[in-house]
Amino acid sequence: MEMIELPITKMIPVGIAGTGVYLPEKVLTNNDLEKLVDTSDEWIRTRTGIKERRILPVDMATSDMGVRAARNALDKAGISPEELDLVIVATVTPDMQVPSAACILQDKLGAKNAAAFDLNAGCTGFAYGISVGSQFVKTGMYKNVLVIGADALSRIVDWTDRNTCVLFGDAAGAVVLTPCEEGYGILSTEMGSDGSKAGLLSNPLGGAQTPLTPENCENPLRYLQMAGREVFKFAVKVMEESALSVVKKAGLEKNDIDCFIPHQANIRIIESAAKRLGLSADKIFINAQKYGNTSAASIPIALHEACEEGRIKKGNRIVLVGFGAGLTWGACAVRWSY
Ligand code: ACO
Repeated sequence: MEMIELPITKMIPVGIAGTGVYLPEKVLTNNDLEKLVDTSDEWIRTRTGIKERRILPVDMATSDMGVRAARNALDKAGISPEELDLVIVATVTPDMQVPSAACILQDKLGAKNAAAFDLNAGCTGFAYGISVGSQFVKTGMYKNVLVIGADALSRIVDWTDRNTCVLFGDAAGAVVLTPCEEGYGILSTEMGSDGSKAGLLSNPLGGAQTPLTPENCENPLRYLQMAGREVFKFAVKVMEESALSVVKKAGLEKNDIDCFIPHQANIRIIESAAKRLGLSADKIFINAQKYGNTSAASIPIALHEACEEGRIKKGNRIVLVGFGAGLTWGACAVRWSY
């Protein structure tokens, strides 16, 4: 086949101009969970590292958390909602099936000039969102893109299933992507998926395949189902591989990583992946003990807290890496631009 010669187009460097979070006030501790299911603080802490998590109030939904995180990120970036060209909400718990949480959030935020859509890649949603959102800025199609990771897993877990309910929490995190100084910003990204493992982490009832009916609405399959051990093994492997891949694509070595921001599912998963990568503890950011696994929100929250704590400075090389339902994985290497 004859190859078509494509013109070489210069890409615009894209950076993260601001980060923001929303964390619900209500704290659910491991001791609280001991009263709900047959578990113990000791089991949860030693198997996962989690001590407590946040739970969203009954009168709030995913878009309400997302909009608060978004305002926080926009303030930091000095960008108004009207200046946004695109809003991406990474979530597996949209407010409702139709329309997208992104459209609901766009209205609440007043981002009236933006396109808006949801992105479902499980807990990898935020890493996917950075990859997708940055393409629009890189090519010059859009200037300001808001990427939000927001999830309310408390609404889809079975509160009688100790295998899952102890792991998750609710929250939202956001970043604003804009053009940045040459040599800084998103250096490389990676997205992957293995749909043959879809059954390892799924919410089988309530979709188009098996809609909820009066007969099946009490069936536990309407809640999140997980094969924990298999997901664990998968997670450690893909976290290492995708981190190495983005480091290589960015022309870096793993020793160049200043701060490693992994999806906060389980401290043992993070430590195993970091060990395989040969990263010392001072380079790894961990906050799972405070919030549990907040799904698509976990990476932007960790990124925000790392910035607030002064762990990230201009010029630092950051690697963000996630895994989740799908099963999916994703990562990006960033040279911090402010
Ligand atoms: N309290 C007490 N005992 C428990 C609990 C609990 N909360 N949960 C499970 N157990 C029991 C099990 O029943 C099992 O008992 P058995 O040996 O009598 O059968 C025992 O503890 C050990 O279970 P394992 O599954 O071997 O425990 P493991 O050390 O693998 O830890 C865990 C389980 C924490 C779920 C771990 O496998 C894990 O973190 N996996 C990854 C999960 C994950 O990250 N999921 C999110 C993906 S992201 C997304 O998109 C949502």
